[in-house]
Amino acid sequence: MTFFKNPPSWQLSEAAATSETLYRDRRRFLKSFIGAGIGAAATTLLGCQKSQAQISDLEATYKLPEIQPLPTNPAFARVDRPITNQELASSYNNFYEFGGTKSIWRSAQNLPTENWQVEVTGLVKNPRTYDLDSLKKDFSIEERIYRFRCVEAWSMALPWVGFPMKDLMAAVEPKSEAKFVRFTSFYDAKITTGPGFHLGSLPWPYQEGLRIEEMANELAFFAIGIYGRELPKQHGAPIRMVLPWKYGFKGGKSIVKIEFLDSQPATYWNTLIPHEYGFIANVDPSKPHPRWSQAREKFIGDTPNFDWEIRETLPYNGYGEYVADLYG
Ligand code: MTE
Repeated sequence: MTFFKNPPSWQLSEAAATSETLYRDRRRFLKSFIGAGIGAAATTLLGCQKSQAQISDLEATYKLPEIQPLPTNPAFARVDRPITNQELASSYNNFYEFGGTKSIWRSAQNLPTENWQVEVTGLVKNPRTYDLDSLKKDFSIEERIYRFRCVEAWSMALPWVGFPMKDLMAAVEPKSEAKFVRFTSFYDAKITTGPGFHLGSLPWPYQEGLRIEEMANELAFFAIGIYGRELPKQHGAPIRMVLPWKYGFKGGKSIVKIEFLDSQPATYWNTLIPHEYGFIANVDPSKPHPRWSQAREKFIGDTPNFDWEIRETLPYNGYGEYVADLYG
């Protein structure tokens, strides 16, 4: 492994990461993606050296219109680490609808974001369908810098632009029976080209869920932008979930539907591999993933070369003061 001068002891061995025979059956296929975790991520980085032409193509995907005015929420104006380099953040993504590697930024450009609509429905007094303009008009848009921790044990620090989920809740007024919320991502089998589609048995669309009191928490955020600009497609344009105290897979991308429910919804990864990917999925360094430790993380920082730094993972990703009460 060329990325580590001294491979950290927690790194999955290359053999463990690649010995699976892809496509033999559904289970093994899935393990080769999110399940391969750290090993797979490190292998993918080999392909991350970009030519000048690739860098220009990549820049075109994220040099989008600026969002203004853009006040930074003072409570989330900084974190304990540098903000991740934008070129790296926009070319190291998980968006399985568009492929099973970290390099989906090009194929994600097929996502059609024009005339986007988000339907908010279910157990609410004021069901409503928003377009992007009405979201920007109805909610106060701000910037928040959050730590971001993927279940695969890599992390970033990202400057999101958006609004708190609780503001949308206040607008639609959940009924007292509403206890959970389901979030559905864009799905169109003709457009989303991820390698799982031919198997036909994966639980698309990507869906995620929260308890209603989690959605009401101050931290829960809808992002419509990042780095001061509109959200690039590879990050889940035009609107995605950001839940900094949970593993990254809880943050569904390209949301088209939000439903308030009286019972816990099925979610994508939890349906596929329930013993590895729970519904709650809070960042917890003391609870290892069945196949790797969650005690530490590879932090991808502000240098352009993936010189990641090994850091201790914090309980609730460092946001315990906001959310620990929810799980008492
Ligand atoms: N949302 C959808 N619709 N499809 C996905 O594959 N991957 C999740 C999450 N949201 C995913 C998704 C995972 S595993 C992670 S770590 C984050 O998106 C990655 O977000 P990023 O690529 O913007 O860093």
